[in-house]
Amino acid sequence: MKAFIVDRYGKGSGRLGQMPEPELRPGDVLVEVHAAGVNPLDSKIRNGEFKLLLPYRLPLVLGNEVAGVVLRVGPAVQRFAPGDEVYARPRKDRIGTFAERIAIDQADVALKPKRLGMEEAASVPLVALTAWQALVETAKLERGEKVLIHAGSGGVGTIAIQLAKHLGAHVATTTGSSNVDFVKGLGADVVVDYRNEDFEKTLRDYDVVLNSLDAQTLRKSLNVLGPGGRLVSISGPPDPQFAEEMGLNWGIGQVMRLLSHRIRTAARRRRVSYSFLFMKANGDQLRQIGGLLDERKIRPVLDRVYPFESMAEALAHVETGRAKGKVVVTVK
Ligand SMILES: NC(=O)c1ccc[n+]([C@@H]2O[C@H](COP(=O)([O-])OP(=O)(O)OC[C@H]3O[C@@H](n4cnc5c(N)ncnc54)[C@H](OP(=O)(O)O)[C@@H]3O)[C@@H](O)[C@H]2O)c1
Repeated sequence: MKAFIVDRYGKGSGRLGQMPEPELRPGDVLVEVHAAGVNPLDSKIRNGEFKLLLPYRLPLVLGNEVAGVVLRVGPAVQRFAPGDEVYARPRKDRIGTFAERIAIDQADVALKPKRLGMEEAASVPLVALTAWQALVETAKLERGEKVLIHAGSGGVGTIAIQLAKHLGAHVATTTGSSNVDFVKGLGADVVVDYRNEDFEKTLRDYDVVLNSLDAQTLRKSLNVLGPGGRLVSISGPPDPQFAEEMGLNWGIGQVMRLLSHRIRTAARRRRVSYSFLFMKANGDQLRQIGGLLDERKIRPVLDRVYPFESMAEALAHVETGRAKGKVVVTVK
């Protein structure tokens, strides 16, 4: 089958080529890929930035989000049948959605929201699960609380703003000047244009911050939180609890302890919590998110759709860091 293959890690690596058909395990569904979402995670994996955390065997088929049609199911699968339209973020050790077909554990799959086309659906799983796991699971965001969502115009931010509004929160976000009206349209109550204003000076007494930016933004975010606030970062640094959850060895756990020492100490002093989140595949949560999409509580935002042949350009577009919503490739 045709796939986008990484033979060696490095910037600009990856090519379209032929790979063997995926092997179907008893609990798997075989999905014919119609569209695949492209994320910064793909380019980071391709560039070798995740070698320690995610030790893939090369050649690797890249791709972490998919929408498509079930072709076959393993003997232990009860929830899905051939012909079902589905979407998924396959678990981290079984990625490979930039391909004509992929076998995915049924626990990671949900029926595609009926209202969405394949391209829209493919843009959702990784970013919506991230927003859900950050705001609902980790921060336990409640109605009436104040949340700051950084980079509101990006893949994660566009969904996180809408989810936070749905949960009844007051939402502030940061974005560039040209995206201010766009994020207001998604529901943001307060918008800080990071090119002209400093969020640290204008926002006070927030309950939750979702950080997806650099270390300086993370540190400044502490000053926005009131006592008891929760700082959740999806862009690092990883903390010891994450190392434990991932079952990483003692040495790597110690590295993570050191990397996060400063922010954990600063957070403790301010009586706020710090958590690093690395999102996980979860078909049940995707089903709940699908309900919100079908009820129009949230909507996907597509920046650009590329044909599969232009996979390298799609990745390059994501790497600019300027995407407004999501980038998707159509495979079928
Ligand atoms: N740990 C996890 O589980 C997890 C999951 C998903 C994503 N992530 C990480 O989270 C980060 C964001 O992911 P994403 O998919 O949302 O990225 P993205 O879609 O590429 O983000 C692009 C957006 O970021 C905005 N932006 C850039 N610099 C900014 C700044 N200084 N302040 C405010 N906005 C800024 C840009 O707006 P302008 O064009 O206006 O600058 C653009 O709209 C990535 O590093 C990704 O790897 C982690």
